[in-house]
Amino acid sequence: MKILIIHGPNLNLLGLKASDIYGARTLDEINDSLKRLAAELGVELMIEQSNHEGEIVDLIQSSKDYGAIVINPAAYTHTSIAIRDAIAAINIPAVEVHISNIHQREEFRQKHLIAPVASEQISGFGHDSYLRGLRAAVSILKAK
Ligand code: DQA
Repeated sequence: MKILIIHGPNLNLLGLKASDIYGARTLDEINDSLKRLAAELGVELMIEQSNHEGEIVDLIQSSKDYGAIVINPAAYTHTSIAIRDAIAAINIPAVEVHISNIHQREEFRQKHLIAPVASEQISGFGHDSYLRGLRAAVSILKAK
């Protein structure tokens, strides 16, 4: 079972900026805990980060060898019809994750373009959102 993790724009800066909202852990640290959980769950991970919308669309389109995607689309959550359409076009479950609780944040973040095409949205559990997202993806696949 292979799962693709996609981190969207600016998530490479985790731990360096806005740690009051996003916590002190770096992206590498989050990826390490994802890898440890993947080993426990017996799944294989591919982890990508991109600051570019088109690159994220390409990653989603090329995900046919994966059972599921776990994606934090970051700011594109609120703007990207292209990423939404790519997720809708593939026949693979996508779990959307957010570190912060986007529902309790600024008005401009209240447009959620990905959620209607995602299998699940997990938001507001800090870095644990990613681990919950991975567990959710595995259970969706096991239930198939
Ligand atoms: C985020 C929430 C988004 O609104 C924001 O633009 C991000 C991170 C989160 O993980 O909480 O970059 O996706």
